[in-house]
Amino acid sequence: MPAASTADAARPRILSGMQPTSDSLHLGNYLGALVNWVGLQDDFDAYYFVADLHALTVPTDPQVLRRRTRATAAQFIAGGVDPTRSAVFCQSHIPAHAELGWVMNCLTGDGEARRMTQFKDKVAKGQSASVGLLTYPMLMAADILMYDAAYVPVGEDQRQHLEITRDLAERFNTRFGETLVVPDPYIVKGAAKIMDLQEPTAKMSKTGSSPKGLIDLMEDPSRIAKNIRSAVTDTDAEVRYDPEGKPGVSNLLVIHSVLSGTPVADVADAFAGRGYGDLKQEVADVVIEALTPFQQRMSTLLDDPAELDRILADGADRAAEVAHATMSRVRDAVGLLPAAR
Ligand code: TYM
Repeated sequence: MPAASTADAARPRILSGMQPTSDSLHLGNYLGALVNWVGLQDDFDAYYFVADLHALTVPTDPQVLRRRTRATAAQFIAGGVDPTRSAVFCQSHIPAHAELGWVMNCLTGDGEARRMTQFKDKVAKGQSASVGLLTYPMLMAADILMYDAAYVPVGEDQRQHLEITRDLAERFNTRFGETLVVPDPYIVKGAAKIMDLQEPTAKMSKTGSSPKGLIDLMEDPSRIAKNIRSAVTDTDAEVRYDPEGKPGVSNLLVIHSVLSGTPVADVADAFAGRGYGDLKQEVADVVIEALTPFQQRMSTLLDDPAELDRILADGADRAAEVAHATMSRVRDAVGLLPAAR
């Protein structure tokens, strides 16, 4: 670890973010990332942010973006992130992210950026390819490297982004001397990829899933139960954890397991000899039981946007302190002349 690191040795730093591309996070965001964020707050100095600059890669009405940015921050807190312990902030409130993103762009090869799977997939699906979409991973690298993050808790779909972040940190350090901390991913097994209920071989996703394939955290409970009841399974009747052979059933078992805190094998055993209908009913019950208090906390938080803005401002103050120190090291390392005061 570079000597310049400001990370607290007793509590290593972690950082993660989510895009405000929808009014509601979905169960994949919750189980693959947010539950994990909450659990890590005790042992780590945590920084959690709303990636609003990244959301600009998807054209969105400005008013809608503002609403979703607040709603996303509120969902972090409703899900259990404690803003008195963890810095909760908005990416665009720390302009240094864009500055460090530029430095990362200048370290990245054109072909290297074009080979990123998410870029290729989005272009293949017809999303208009702005330069912002192409350089999305470099901004993400900047987000992470700005905070000397030792670990980055994310779902499996972000693994390639973390690999390029590590490559860029190492490249920077080789070229300019030890300056940046090379982070490790922190990807939980099991919940790292929650699948689409209608297409259980594809990940549940805000942009890729149909409304019936998704479970939105803010959805009406009756609609959640309906989506789970109509989840695609398979033609045999055995409840068994087998992600390859039985992706639909395995996905339901994982959702149950994470929310009920029961090992997946035990959940599967409890349904031995019972049908898929029973499994779906119990998964719906477990999901609704977990989301009811979440939704109640959300309505309290959204009733007081000024308080939410205050929390974001406080988080930005904490984030700015670290960002300022990192940028001084980075500017000095790359040879940018300091402004004379
Ligand atoms: P985003 O907003 O797409 O997703 C937020 C988090 O949710 C996880 N996730 C899932 N986990 C399990 N199953 C799923 N079906 C599923 N879908 C999403 C994601 O892995 C992620 O952890 N590029 C990031 C945002 C970002 C970021 C960062 C993250 C920007 N800068 C710096 C970490 C560090 C993204 O689009 O996440």
